[in-house]
Amino acid sequence: MLKAEMLIYMPDLRTPRLRLRKLTMRDAADIYRYSRDPEVARHVLWDAHRSIGDSRAFLRYMLRKYRSHESASWGIELTETGHIIGTIGFMWVQEDNAAAEVGYSLAREYWGRGLMTEALRAVIQYGFDHMSLNRIEAQHETTNPASGAVMRKCHMQHEGTLRSRLFNKGRYVDVELYAILRKDYNRTGMRRI
Ligand SMILES: CC(C)(COP(=O)(O)OP(=O)(O)OC[C@H]1O[C@@H](n2cnc3c(N)ncnc32)[C@H](O)[C@@H]1OP(=O)(O)O)[C@@H](O)C(=O)NCCC(=O)NCCS
Repeated sequence: MLKAEMLIYMPDLRTPRLRLRKLTMRDAADIYRYSRDPEVARHVLWDAHRSIGDSRAFLRYMLRKYRSHESASWGIELTETGHIIGTIGFMWVQEDNAAAEVGYSLAREYWGRGLMTEALRAVIQYGFDHMSLNRIEAQHETTNPASGAVMRKCHMQHEGTLRSRLFNKGRYVDVELYAILRKDYNRTGMRRI
């Protein structure tokens, strides 16, 4: 069990257009609507959902994670419609290094509107303001540059290319590693945005 200041209590996080909130089983249809899309799943480590049963299994897994407070994802709710259009959260948290990794995905029809930048900024703020993190990492496949753009817009710095780092969907893929440190966060004044 992580020490208290590293635990994630998943409060609602508000941004101008989004509410990041805990997922519930009632979100299965929304999750399925976009997670069945192979384009959404192309550069993530999960497979496109083949049925709403896959979405329910994902939600059950997430509800178990909420109970342990260790690493879990928020649902990304578009405030205007109340629908879940993606997820974002901590993939892992390391107490000894005060480090964590963020991952995210968004329904294709909402790409290119700055929504994930809004969501990632809120999660970085949560990680530094409410957990005792010193470093937040994120990584994306080299062939998924839009994700790198989101990271840079959130003041994450590119640290290098990890060659053939992941075996994803039948092939080894290169990965770009980004991170933001607490000192970067304080310097950029992101807290006030
Ligand atoms: C990657 C993803 C999260 C981006 O979310 P988004 O809400 O569309 O991102 P934003 O609109 O905040 O920013 C996207 C940026 O990428 C840029 N971009 C889009 N396509 C690009 C490309 N092919 N090459 C370079 N930049 C690109 C956009 O121009 C924009 O930057 P700008 O605001 O400076 O113009 C979204 O496409 C997604 O969920 N994809 C599927 C799942 C996934 O890949 N998750 C990430 C795994 S690491």
